[in-house]
Amino acid sequence: MNNDGKLLAIETSCDETAAAVVRNGREVLSNVISSQIDLHTLYGGVVPEIASRKHMEKIDQVVAAALKEAGETIESVDGVAVTYGPGLVGALLVGVAHAKAYAWAAEKPLIGVNHIEGHIAANFLQYPELTPPFLCLVVSGGHTHLVRVLDYGEYEILGRSRDDAAGEAFDKVARAIGLGYPGGPKIEKAAKEGDPSAIAFPRPGFSDSPFDFSFSGLKSAVLNYLNECGMKGLSYSQADVAASFQAAVTDILTERAELALHETGDKKLALAGGVASNGAIRNAVKKMCERNGAEFFVPDPILCTDNAAMIGAAGFYEYQKGRRAALNLNAVPGLKIGERS
Ligand code: KG4
Ligand code: ZN
Repeated sequence: MNNDGKLLAIETSCDETAAAVVRNGREVLSNVISSQIDLHTLYGGVVPEIASRKHMEKIDQVVAAALKEAGETIESVDGVAVTYGPGLVGALLVGVAHAKAYAWAAEKPLIGVNHIEGHIAANFLQYPELTPPFLCLVVSGGHTHLVRVLDYGEYEILGRSRDDAAGEAFDKVARAIGLGYPGGPKIEKAAKEGDPSAIAFPRPGFSDSPFDFSFSGLKSAVLNYLNECGMKGLSYSQADVAASFQAAVTDILTERAELALHETGDKKLALAGGVASNGAIRNAVKKMCERNGAEFFVPDPILCTDNAAMIGAAGFYEYQKGRRAALNLNAVPGLKIGERS
């Protein structure tokens, strides 16, 4: 078994063009991220066609920068890992096509990686001592999942969002209160000036599957509150809405994670995904873990939001298992956790 696999990793599933070199699935040798946020801010959200075109423009420079920063070349790495889903199909295809070309030209193995599994694996970069099994709460722009990581690349899904993802709710609420895109960081900033108990937004759950999430009801409650204020001719405090909404999301996530610790008896809980860069959520989940005698793990914010280092981490464990993608690897926009194509 090769224990010193250096992988070039490529990530283009949404609005970041990213490349990294990762050793052993644990050590980041370089992590280059070219963000398209400014471009999409003009339109209030990610425009898929623009994202693909921008990836095309940037990808070769980003890959060259990642190799240079790591002191590597395409010949000196052991393989090429690439996100092939889930995500925007056109955006994914740019990364997949380039990864195939690099792998073919340099005669290196190609490894297809699931983006959500990449988010989970970001914890391996932050905590070299972390090993499965552990619980992971994945909160990103497109997915909210509570999973048990049984082993590297093996997952048991305990719960998922039945409607909007947590990040999606942040983005929609931010738009509704005039903060714009990207919603998560803007809500977090506004919430610092607000009162989290000012407005009692609901914290919906399901008695038949207690690990599932729902965020669309919470989003509608915020919209109804704003409409009501409008109809009564009352102004509302943007900061109070942001703080009260963020408090509701924090409670929902923390309660589900606490229940999962109790039900499974696991003593390790990791956070992952873009929403895991939120300070209020990190603190609340950390405190909950302390109360329950569980170890808490969360990557630095730069490893929570989209990056290629996490793809290099997840890709390494696929590589070690001998899993290789063929040169007909396609983008799979709806790829599920644990699914292998
Ligand atoms: O994981 P990610 O970077 O991309 C996806 O795979 O979706 O997550 C992006 C999501 C967006 O919805 C964004 O608003 C949210 O993560 N996000 C945050 C924060 N930073 C990013 N949500 C709350 N607080 C933040 N500080
Ligand atoms: Zn992501």
